[in-house]
Amino acid sequence: MKLKRLHLAKNQFALTVFFVLMIFVFGMVVDIWAGPPPVQGRRNPSRAFQGHHGQGFMGKGICPQIRTTAQAPDTIRKQRNPLKKSPDLLYAGESLFQVDVQPTACKICHGVTGNGLGIMAQGLNPPPRNFTCRETMKTISDGQLFWIIRNGSPGTGMPAFKNLKDREIWLIVHYLRKLSEPKR
Ligand code: HEC
Repeated sequence: MKLKRLHLAKNQFALTVFFVLMIFVFGMVVDIWAGPPPVQGRRNPSRAFQGHHGQGFMGKGICPQIRTTAQAPDTIRKQRNPLKKSPDLLYAGESLFQVDVQPTACKICHGVTGNGLGIMAQGLNPPPRNFTCRETMKTISDGQLFWIIRNGSPGTGMPAFKNLKDREIWLIVHYLRKLSEPKR
């Protein structure tokens, strides 16, 4: 009798271990099934909680924004982004925007969420563009975004990024577009 009881306890223990393991396995399967994260390291589209270099300020930002930015020449302004959008490209664009662009990553002024409230935005007049503001962003063409990134906006805080390759700028443009899309 005693032996039998011990046997049962052992079985229960094995069963418990089995269930706990299954919970982990389930978690892993779900994680793989969800696919690659569309943004670095997390599925949350805003990397709001990333502290690297300061995150600036959260919130919606100024919307709509008054734009006094010079217009790109017609030939450039009418260009559409030649790169086909994909999660990989968005990831690359985000990396540039958030971290890699030299000398100053875009997020320092435009904010980690793209709301225009980066750590260096204070005191800039006009303020950095709020890429999350659909109302404003839908009036700006791909080519216009490209042109300003390459040449800057003279007389404002927006610097020229002459060292970026065409492809890198188009990657960033894809990412900027994503910022004004409705969040999942
Ligand atoms: C030092 C601060 C600063 C940094 C760094 C910066 N920006 Fe800006 N950006 C601004 C400001 C200020 C404006 C507003 C300019 C204006 O109103 O004409 C602006 C405007 C823009 C616009 C608006 C163009 C338009 O036609 O409305 C785009 C696009 C842009 N920035 C992209 C970028 C990208 C991409 C990066 C990184 C590669 C970047 N910016 C880095 C300050 C910055």
